[in-house]
Amino acid sequence: MQTLHQFQDSFESYLLYNHFVGTPIELYEPANYILKIGGKRLRPALLLAGHYLFEDDFSPSLPAAFAVEVFHNFTLVHDDIMDAAPLRRGMPTVHQKYGLSTGILSGDVMMILAYEYLLKCPTKKITEVLKSFNRMAIQVCEGQQMDMNFETQAAISIDDYLKMIEYKTAALVATALEMGAKLGGADDEDARLLYEFGRNLGIAFQLQDDILDAFGDPSKVGKKTGGDIAQNKKTFLYLKAIELAPASVADQLKGYFTNSLPIEESEKIQSVLTIFRALKVAEEANRVKEEFWQKALDAIGKISSPTDKKTILINFAAALMQRDF
Ligand code: IPE
Ligand code: IPE
Ligand code: MG
Ligand code: MG
Ligand code: MG
Repeated sequence: MQTLHQFQDSFESYLLYNHFVGTPIELYEPANYILKIGGKRLRPALLLAGHYLFEDDFSPSLPAAFAVEVFHNFTLVHDDIMDAAPLRRGMPTVHQKYGLSTGILSGDVMMILAYEYLLKCPTKKITEVLKSFNRMAIQVCEGQQMDMNFETQAAISIDDYLKMIEYKTAALVATALEMGAKLGGADDEDARLLYEFGRNLGIAFQLQDDILDAFGDPSKVGKKTGGDIAQNKKTFLYLKAIELAPASVADQLKGYFTNSLPIEESEKIQSVLTIFRALKVAEEANRVKEEFWQKALDAIGKISSPTDKKTILINFAAALMQRDF
């Protein structure tokens, strides 16, 4: 019987032996840096657990798990440039430490290296795996562009936001699980159900990320608190606040989120957080998060794998729902 730690331990050992070497070292050092400074390793663990649902020996999925983690870290390097983020995993972000151009190029090479590892998948599965991966990679880019568009767009609905987070975050979580399922020999229906589990889990995960960005303990989250507010991100918290606030407060919030009030960034963050607290928008976000979690549970419930194997995955995902890091 596997526990989730065994998936994570197998992945960490694989990571240890897959350090990027090459010249110029200025290109590869930042890639190794971001991969080694930590991270929850959520996506590779899910991919391996997805494989294990259908076949005990999940080791053929290790290269794909690595590919998914490298791709994720590539998106983080570029995301931190786009979000002007100074901190990641409690450490300086790649562009902060090595400069903007290196951040762009190291991110690029990481994305290509992810494909190198996908090529190590069992030959007869490669086309199928690449199709899933490419669909996901395009959705992540589309989601990231929506996220940036929303910074300056006025009328964003909660449905627009949910679509955006489905693309930028849930697509990768769902695809990691689906790839594991396919590599483990799942039939189409089980792979689809596992994707659906991951899609709903991923949406709930991003809602939690947005809550932690505003209200988390920076020493645990490892990112700058209030970064989303500073960048005028139209998260669920903001959209719900606009919906619930009296007109004068809603106008004030809109003023903050268009940078049209003469106010320091730290003061803007504190004022917005005070409004968020008064309107209890984090509680609303938690309620919606719970709805997506229930949908995720419905989907995994229908998968044909043994219950004890599914329980490992469910317990891991349940812990993620409550995370404070
Ligand atoms: C951060 O992902 C980016 C989001 C999609 C919210 P994680 O919270 O999984 O980051 P690490 O890999 O654990 O650092
Ligand atoms: C991240 O969304 C999504 C991707 C990196 C694709 P965020 O911008 O909320 O992630 P963090 O909070 O910086 O980790
Ligand atoms: Mg970000
Ligand atoms: Mg972002
Ligand atoms: Mg975030």
